[in-house]
Amino acid sequence: MNNSNIKEKILIIDFGGQYNQLIARRVRELNVYSEVKGFENISLKEVLEFEPTGIIFTGGPQSAYGKDAPSIDEKIFEIGVPILGICYGAQLMAHILGGKIDTAPTSEYGHTKTFIKDKNSILNGLDDNTVVWMSHTDCISKVPQGFEITACTENCPVAAMENRNKKLYAVQFHPEVNHTIQGRKILENFVIDICGCSGSWQMGIYADDQIKILREKIGSGKVLCALSGGVDSSVAATLLSKAVGKQLTCVFVDHGLLRKNEAEEVSQVFGPNGKYELNFIMVDAKDRYYEKLKGVTEPEEKRKIIGEEFIRIFEEEAKKIGAVDYLVQGTIYPDVIESGLGKSAVIKSHHNVGGLPDYVDFKEIVEPLRMLFKDEVRNLGRELDLPEYIVSRQPFPGPGLAIRIIGEVNADKVKIVQDADAIYREEIGKAGLDKEISQYFAALTNMRSVGVMGDFRTYDYAIALRAVKTSDFMTAEAYDIPWEVLQRIMNRIVNEVDHVNRVVYDITSKPPGTIEFE
Ligand code: XMP
Repeated sequence: MNNSNIKEKILIIDFGGQYNQLIARRVRELNVYSEVKGFENISLKEVLEFEPTGIIFTGGPQSAYGKDAPSIDEKIFEIGVPILGICYGAQLMAHILGGKIDTAPTSEYGHTKTFIKDKNSILNGLDDNTVVWMSHTDCISKVPQGFEITACTENCPVAAMENRNKKLYAVQFHPEVNHTIQGRKILENFVIDICGCSGSWQMGIYADDQIKILREKIGSGKVLCALSGGVDSSVAATLLSKAVGKQLTCVFVDHGLLRKNEAEEVSQVFGPNGKYELNFIMVDAKDRYYEKLKGVTEPEEKRKIIGEEFIRIFEEEAKKIGAVDYLVQGTIYPDVIESGLGKSAVIKSHHNVGGLPDYVDFKEIVEPLRMLFKDEVRNLGRELDLPEYIVSRQPFPGPGLAIRIIGEVNADKVKIVQDADAIYREEIGKAGLDKEISQYFAALTNMRSVGVMGDFRTYDYAIALRAVKTSDFMTAEAYDIPWEVLQRIMNRIVNEVDHVNRVVYDITSKPPGTIEFE
């Protein structure tokens, strides 16, 4: 299983906790490569083959002494690789090595004051009293032989313990969560000082490594990628093109619902005049989509038509290419959370490209970004020399502008919203707010109203400006764009975009609104 060239790496063994990928991410932030493997998917032999520099056991929802509790081969404690157990991982270490676990008299959840008893430990450099993030009902009541208690809280006698000789460390709390104020320092102590990693890993090394792994895996097989022009599918396609060149075919569907110039921009990067070696097929399906969407006003019906039509087009193109071995998906870690960790890869309906068919004849799905967070994907894109306008792109929904045009969609309305949106994006960029706002776009309301331009009466559309701040896109607040910037945008839109005589600013949070209009 170890066909990686990366020498220093932390293996994270997952016992089902909710922050597990976050641990991997925190380690990567220290410039040390790390990977998460489910405890049930990795044997001791595979651990040794992975050649980890250090191992972290994650938290998990069970009791270490419970029936069917996740466990690990106890010989792992003898292989001489430093191990850090977190929460459930700490209890498991104590349980296997002869300590005692009990239900705590008081569960601890949330910010918890912790007293550091021994700083000549993994807690080196921490304050005497520090706040950590706790989330547990069981606790270690007796440490195994050879272990010392290095921290405690009011209700938890063993908040941290270690056996320095054997390089075994355990913390009851979650150092990976930002609420643990000095959590980064603890992880740094483990990864750099205790494991001896140099902290020299970069995303470029990940890129080279993935290219090598993909090349070995795919061999001479044919690969197909549905390219949406969004960040994830663009980065995945680029990685694959560097790995297998012309064995890769990217299908890019212009459904006539893209942002202004988007089709041209994507073709420039990935088309025959671009710098990547791959087969690029752009399908001009604008008329086909407008025809299908004629008279349709109900949002869910629009979404369904768009998704289905995409599948039909993709199938047609796949058939033309013939036997495809691998299908590339730009799935990233937050998508994996949505579909449930540990499940096999499913092709989701709510994805950038609107749900791919699962009966196209391919052997396997390739998801090279599956373990990365969005900002890591953007960094990888930069390493692969993708242009910044692709790498830093705003999230854009699969159904595209159709769900930003309230009511019936047609080519004229698409043009209006494209032009207004382009002005909006340009001005937000000029105002230096583009990195500040999580998502922003113009939408075409279905409302027409009376205005006056020159000496003439107008009866035209209202454009709505949407801008939100959010970290998870599940909830969001309207972003407070400075008034003078809004006025500049309004002025330009009513002057430069035909058939718009009014601009409104949507200040609704989510909930009760959603980010998109439909
Ligand atoms: P809502 O409108 O549900 O949007 O608040 C939350 C986030 O999801 C994006 N979105 C989609 N993304 N396919 C996608 O890939 C879709 O069908 C879709 N619908 C909404 C939306 O842009 C926002 O970032």
